[in-house]
Amino acid sequence: MVSNVDALLDSSRIEAFRSALLAWYETHQREMPWRGSPDPYAVWISEIMLQQTRVDQVRPYYERFMNQFPTVEDLGKASCEEVLKTWEGMGYYARARNLHRAARQIVERHDGKIPDNPDQISVLPGIGPYTAAAVLSIAYGRDCPVVDGNVVRVLSRLFHLTDDPATAAAKKRMAALAERLLVSGRAGDFNQAMMELGATVCTPRQPDCGGCPVGSFCLARRELPDPSVLPRKQPRKQRPHHHVAAGIVRRGDEILIVRRPMDGLLGGLWEFPGGKSEDESAMKEFLRNDLKRKLGIEILVGRALATVRHAFTHFEMTLHGYDCTYHGGEARHRDGNDCRWIRIGELEQFAFPRAHHRLIEAMVAAEGSPQTTLFP
Ligand code: ADE
Repeated sequence: MVSNVDALLDSSRIEAFRSALLAWYETHQREMPWRGSPDPYAVWISEIMLQQTRVDQVRPYYERFMNQFPTVEDLGKASCEEVLKTWEGMGYYARARNLHRAARQIVERHDGKIPDNPDQISVLPGIGPYTAAAVLSIAYGRDCPVVDGNVVRVLSRLFHLTDDPATAAAKKRMAALAERLLVSGRAGDFNQAMMELGATVCTPRQPDCGGCPVGSFCLARRELPDPSVLPRKQPRKQRPHHHVAAGIVRRGDEILIVRRPMDGLLGGLWEFPGGKSEDESAMKEFLRNDLKRKLGIEILVGRALATVRHAFTHFEMTLHGYDCTYHGGEARHRDGNDCRWIRIGELEQFAFPRAHHRLIEAMVAAEGSPQTTLFP
């Protein structure tokens, strides 16, 4: 195997590989609003969005975000609440909180300029090795290789690497290979071409090997009946499943919302109060007791509004939403979380997790209330 790798790394083969890849990228790259003019701010925002979200999903969020916060100064001046609202629906909200913190640091410490060197950019919140390399290469033309999930897949197949890509040794090897292949002076195009190849041709399940511009260099294609077995996959761990009850608690024409703590899952988002129950068959009773315990309020739990399933990275959840009526008490959260009584028409000013949006939709559908904003 090592000799095969060496054969591909022969310098004339590398040149042929690079030319084929870049020629393909020139004609096949997808149009993306952040490509073309490499404004470092635009590149940074797009790369953070693209970390855990597909290109097609990112497009409308990107447009909305850039309209709302056209410069790093605008982002730094905004409140965290506004940033979360603009991010609402895209998930992985730590990305939005970190963007906001990093924008303030860029304004305060770097005069509003996204740093153009690895030491300064990599200490900003939310910027790991992948984002640092992407921004430095795409926005500043620095010779930094990107190794993201798409690139790992392409390299594993190209070099027929059978090691578990999550190990430190495999990561080191991937980084060295990416560096060896990188086209000096065109690192931005090279990195994006590798990512684009992984996203559109060398896909996880059914790669289009026949249409691959660098198929003739691919060891997995030559040596395996099915190259899609690489990279080696980890057996999927069974994710725990939680049942969560939430109440849309009415007091006249107001409803109660509670803000999640900043530092955890969905941090800083608002939601309808409730919690995780061990017993799926007694959700209503659980909800009544839970709100008494956490918020000090008495409620009557009415009809079920909606049941929403949602998968997070480490667990799955079924959210059971109930229409509830307020019956006394002051609504003060025992952990100090912000709680507010708001009118339905004000809901769209607050950022909610996707599953709670489904409850809002169910409530609106049930009573024909004013329009709420859906995700883009
Ligand atoms: N995935 C993440 N960043 C990307 C980029 N700049 N081009 C293509 N795919 C990507």
